[in-house]
Amino acid sequence: GVTPKIAPSMLSSDFANLASESHRMLNLGADWLHMDIMDGHFVPNLTIGAPVIESLRKHTKAYLDCHLMVTNPLDYVEPLAKAGASGFTFHVETSKSWSFYFLLLWFFWIDDWKELIQKIKSHGMRPGVALKPGTPIEEVYPLVEADNPVEMVLVMTVEPGFGGQKFMPEMMDKVRILRMKFPSLDIEVDGGLGPSTIDVAASAGANCIVAGSSVFGAPEPAQVISLLRNSVEK
Ligand code: DX5
Ligand code: ZN
Repeated sequence: GVTPKIAPSMLSSDFANLASESHRMLNLGADWLHMDIMDGHFVPNLTIGAPVIESLRKHTKAYLDCHLMVTNPLDYVEPLAKAGASGFTFHVETSKSWSFYFLLLWFFWIDDWKELIQKIKSHGMRPGVALKPGTPIEEVYPLVEADNPVEMVLVMTVEPGFGGQKFMPEMMDKVRILRMKFPSLDIEVDGGLGPSTIDVAASAGANCIVAGSSVFGAPEPAQVISLLRNSVEK
């Protein structure tokens, strides 16, 4: 069965106090720490990379749920594994753009994600695939149905790049259809989740909940975390 995982997005934390912010979230009931890794190329923002994950790992044993908004995820597998990342979620769009420009290289794309998933697993991390709001859900089916599949699908509910954006309820169709097809899959939602949007996401079938501004901006973050959890458990 699928269990709730509440993952505060550390993008909304005080990066200058990442260790204490992480401890605070775990003490308030967080299951995972969501780490947004951006390269300034796949998305128009630049955040953290393996050196920061490595520094944080020295301060916590927590599950570090790394969301890679980078153009070349393959290059990040080794450094992130060495740094102590737990989950490695890459964007399906990263290898797919090749197939648009080089239709004949379609098969290279297939091999691309197979190699990537294999490499993530052989480095001891848990592979996931993310998709942007404009990407159809069908794009991730082959990766979930593969012999060596991803173990989580992250459905973006905002355009990736920044915290604090408005939740896109129309993305819930993707979550519903995924949950119907794959009853025991971890389905993560990311962007604009909080007390006013969790019910629609949880009833669509999401069980891993990323929340940045709604948790860090709350006067009582513990209440928000438990509200998110209760909604998934309902
Ligand atoms: C956006 C990131 C999210 C972001 C969520 O690109 O993937 O994880 O931090 O922040 P909120 O919850 O504020 O939308
Ligand atoms: Zn994220």
